[in-house]
Amino acid sequence: MAKKIEKICCIGAGYVGGPTMSVVAKQCPEIEITIVDMNEARIAAWNDCDLNNLPVYEPGLAEIVAEARGRNLFFSTDVDKAIAEADMIFISVNTPTKTYGKGKGMAADLKFIELCARQIAAVAKTDKIVVEKSTLPVRTAAALKSILDNTGNGVNFHILSNPEFLAEGTAVEDLLNPDRVLIGGENAEAIQALVDIYAQWVPEERILTTNLWSSELSKLTANAFLAQRVSSINSISELCEKTGANVDEVSKAIGLDSRIGPKFLKASVGFGGSCFQKDILNLVYIARSYNLHAVADYWDQVILMNDHQKHRFADNIIQTLYNTVSGKKIAFLGWAFKKDTNDTRESAAIYVADYLLSEEAEITIYDPKVSAERIYADLDYLNTRSSAENRRLVRVVSDPYEATSEAHAIAVLTEWDEFKGYDWARIKQEMKRPSFIFDGRKLLNRAQLEEIGFNYYAIGE
Ligand code: NAD
Ligand code: UGA
Repeated sequence: MAKKIEKICCIGAGYVGGPTMSVVAKQCPEIEITIVDMNEARIAAWNDCDLNNLPVYEPGLAEIVAEARGRNLFFSTDVDKAIAEADMIFISVNTPTKTYGKGKGMAADLKFIELCARQIAAVAKTDKIVVEKSTLPVRTAAALKSILDNTGNGVNFHILSNPEFLAEGTAVEDLLNPDRVLIGGENAEAIQALVDIYAQWVPEERILTTNLWSSELSKLTANAFLAQRVSSINSISELCEKTGANVDEVSKAIGLDSRIGPKFLKASVGFGGSCFQKDILNLVYIARSYNLHAVADYWDQVILMNDHQKHRFADNIIQTLYNTVSGKKIAFLGWAFKKDTNDTRESAAIYVADYLLSEEAEITIYDPKVSAERIYADLDYLNTRSSAENRRLVRVVSDPYEATSEAHAIAVLTEWDEFKGYDWARIKQEMKRPSFIFDGRKLLNRAQLEEIGFNYYAIGE
């Protein structure tokens, strides 16, 4: 019989920890869950009475937090207390690409993970199941085990790998109805304890158990395969633009082959998000560390293609605007890396903007969920120019019509649904002529816009 879990602690109240544990709390009201984070502002935002102020925007999430918070879901900065009381501890902290030392720009930075392990080792007085929820390099569990097994305090730890496959913007739906839940481990009882939690709402045939290393490696592999599909179709989009083929038609034609499938074949300005690039870089780094250079080079191409796609989108804007954007107003619709999220990490918009700003464009940005503060922080982080210069060249507005008024061109960077319903005739009226639209998401209606008089360019057409 597996131990029945009564108290869970989740370390990391971010885009994964917050939504994942909120859904577990909703589905398992008998389990008390405390999500802890060392970021006080983030915890305060999770505890905010006004649900519009939650730090993560996801459709359906606020309702779940409203239902469970204060009942069996708690947000706290008291990490030690939550660790001490829990039977099961999820580690859901960030694992960004290293920015220093060995593996800089490639390897995953595991310092936050190690800190968690050391804190658990220091605080735990009773046996714990420690669950890797973060995305980690294969064999990380061996390092965690070595830290946890050497405390000398007689506490037993079992480590499980339970990678998260949710996508932002659909996190709640993905968590409530996952394609699969993956649990890797060595101890049958510990595995069963976690299976029992998910089995409260996930059909058992979708709960897959494997050894630790397969589970860790499957997460990196899944992201690499998904990103590869986007880079593959984006590579074909460029060929479409030269040949008169239409990339949406090609996607549909190949996606109807059940071996290929229709999903994740939408050509775009390039994939963004906090994970695809970081996880592929990590995979490439791991392959190289085993001297598997052919493997490393193969996956590296997915990233090179993605960089190329962002670059050529910006280049096309410059070339079409008579080879100069200096002093020209370009309106950006969208800054988030995809619709229905306020997350901007690695968004293609950042890199397209940076490229155009280096050509002295003046950019006005509208995004329904992203703050001006976030946008300036994204640009400043690149260190391409001073932050004063970023603020001189970039304006962030809360009205799309203000963004597009007097603009030479509009660039659609995120596929927010609301963009489709704008008064495009009014926008045309208020723009400079000729009026250009560069649709990096293939979102808008070509026939309608050309009828109004726009010069409309879309990826892969
Ligand atoms: P995030 O940056 O949004 O959240 C991580 C949180 O952990 C931060 O709030 C940070 O303050 C906190 N933290 C870091 N170290 C801590 C410590 N020692 N003690 C307490 N709190 C600490 O990151 P995220 O997007 O939630 O991603 C977390 C992990 O999940 C990553 O490994 C990522 O690759 C993986 N993942 C992310 C997604 C996604 O869609 N974002 C999906 C699947 C998997
Ligand atoms: C992705 C995976 O889909 C999740 O399964 C995984 O858990 C997660 O990464 C992670 O590990 O972080 P996410 O990055 O949130 O999820 O969002 P996606 O829907 O995968 O989109 C990623 C990027 O690819 C976005 O910029 C999106 O616009 C782009 N994309 C996606 C395309 O350009 N075309 C497509 O057909 C699909």
